[in-house]
Amino acid sequence: MTHDARTLKEIESFAVELARGGGARVQSALATEVTVRHKTAALGEKPARDPVSNVDRETETWLRERIASRYPSHGVIGEEFDDASTDSDFVWCLDPIDGTTNFVHAFPMFACSIGVLHRGQPVAGAVWCSTSHELRPGVYHARDGGGLRFEDHSLRRRPPVEGVVCRLTGEPGGAIDCDLPRDRRATGSAAIECALVAAGSMRWAMFGRVHIWDVAGGLALARASGLECWTRGERGWTAFSSFSAPAGRGLRDWRQPLLLASVEDAELLRNVAPV
Ligand code: IPD
Repeated sequence: MTHDARTLKEIESFAVELARGGGARVQSALATEVTVRHKTAALGEKPARDPVSNVDRETETWLRERIASRYPSHGVIGEEFDDASTDSDFVWCLDPIDGTTNFVHAFPMFACSIGVLHRGQPVAGAVWCSTSHELRPGVYHARDGGGLRFEDHSLRRRPPVEGVVCRLTGEPGGAIDCDLPRDRRATGSAAIECALVAAGSMRWAMFGRVHIWDVAGGLALARASGLECWTRGERGWTAFSSFSAPAGRGLRDWRQPLLLASVEDAELLRNVAPV
């Protein structure tokens, strides 16, 4: 299946609808009683981390139902349900709540992230964020060949404010070993960090081994705002071209470091490893 411009435009607008609907569900669930379990508890890890709530699962189920009815031939990878049927050309990568730990504490930084891949390439993304550069919830979105948008309006990447020496950077794993003057931030949501780097509120983001659903939507945003995307393997950083399944495993098992940065910053950061 090919993807013409019209198909992609429709996919982007459906992704926006899903992210907005998912975000609204998550937001309204803040007023309800949420039940939580820990994924790592099953592995015997202490203290148990990586919470998942009923809202994560219910929202992902809602997203999956909508996709299955609109695009029955497309594949889906979601954080909360293991689904082996991802050999379609188009695959939707869903994180119903990115930043679940924040969500369960009502710490107001979480996202509902939708990324659409075509043969592994991120071709569209829509990330509902609980807050934004406009201090309100909204959806950052983009498609291949189109620019970055926020709530359906074109968004130019925020340029650096003159005189500011230390710009904000996303280093969620901890301080990386580099001398560049900066002020680090870790929001607890990789998807929000991707969106804020794309929007220019943050200068770059360097992630340790993130999951495909954390960043598939955000990668489309970063590319649309002209950023470089790099991933890291045994030979150091290489330009990201597409998601691919690790040997003998499925696409949902992709888990790699990721750097989103301008051309100039990527050049400076290419000798630096993530924490
Ligand atoms: C988590 C967030 C967090 C990142 C973790 C992710 P989740 O996603 O993106 O920022 O540091 O690696 O697992 O579990 O809340 O969807």
